[in-house]
Amino acid sequence: MLNISITKTTNPKAKPQDESKLGFGRIFTDHMFMMDYYDGAWHDARIVPFDYIPIHPASTVLHYGVEIFEGMKAYRNADGKIRMFRPIENARRMNNSAERLCLPEIPEEDFVQILDTLVELDKDWIPHSEGTSLYIRPFTYGNDEHLGVHPVKNATFCVILSPVGPYYAEGINPVKIAIESHDVRAVRGGTGYAKCGGNYAASLRAGDRAEKQGITQVLWLDGVERKYIEEVGSMNVMFMIDDEIITPELTGSVLPGITRKSCVELLKDKGYKVSERLISVDELITAAKEGRLQEAWGTGTAAVVSPIGWLYYEGCEYTMNGGKIGPVTQWLYDTLTAIQWGYAADTKHWCHEVCDE
Ligand code: COI
Repeated sequence: MLNISITKTTNPKAKPQDESKLGFGRIFTDHMFMMDYYDGAWHDARIVPFDYIPIHPASTVLHYGVEIFEGMKAYRNADGKIRMFRPIENARRMNNSAERLCLPEIPEEDFVQILDTLVELDKDWIPHSEGTSLYIRPFTYGNDEHLGVHPVKNATFCVILSPVGPYYAEGINPVKIAIESHDVRAVRGGTGYAKCGGNYAASLRAGDRAEKQGITQVLWLDGVERKYIEEVGSMNVMFMIDDEIITPELTGSVLPGITRKSCVELLKDKGYKVSERLISVDELITAAKEGRLQEAWGTGTAAVVSPIGWLYYEGCEYTMNGGKIGPVTQWLYDTLTAIQWGYAADTKHWCHEVCDE
């Protein structure tokens, strides 16, 4: 077991009163976790009051973007317990990302122990209203104090917590998504499958262009042929065409989403035909034109299951299910959140108990 020292704040902050105004990732709890990597090992695992992090101006992360992160949530459950959703999957994905960016890995059991300890300490920050949760953001950054371009010898792992409501201002209402044909997010052999800050930095320009036109996010095409659908800015994507549910296969440039994987399993269990395969933009747009694109939605920790109501491509607008949430999207949202919030039996043992309320 990791030895974690705890220094509690002497100056606790006021908790948000109006949970309908939480939004996403703007409010942070009283404490954070940190530990430092040097001499080939992690040292000084500690929970400290939430604060700024002093950083050397030559630190690797500031110059070369050597950073990886995870996104996960803790929920207040109907039975009075606090649970996280599939934390071991996040621990594994974080280590896969670490391997890609030459950052140090963290033993899976330490990762889960750290989150358990921090979430329990700040459990009073977990909001109570329906649709809210405590977002957990673990991240590791390279912290060598020189400008050479090499794998780092020094790194810091940190975890911060944020009480959140829906990721999109639209909530569970359908969002507008533009298919991006100019910028690309990732290429095979690059870092697309890793959850690293650079992937999101690369996505900002196209996302900003879309937002200025009233569009929520962009849908990325593959970086080589610009032919195949990959993912949306902050979520994986699924389409229902002719009763087949299609999600882009994990080719190396798509993030292996944990919500994606869980949704595929739930849909298959329910008897839907689900294909993880290449889907070209032509196939998608032809289906939309012919009225065969029945529903579309995104999946992600932050986004949960978000209906897509409108797609934009080469100057045309395509409306799905009359711009309303479709029956499969609604079923998937209800089924997944019932497990996460503890209203439905956790027959798959996806939920990890942290503590009592
Ligand atoms: C998540 O869903 O947790 C993410 O990391 C997406 C995002 C907000 C960047």
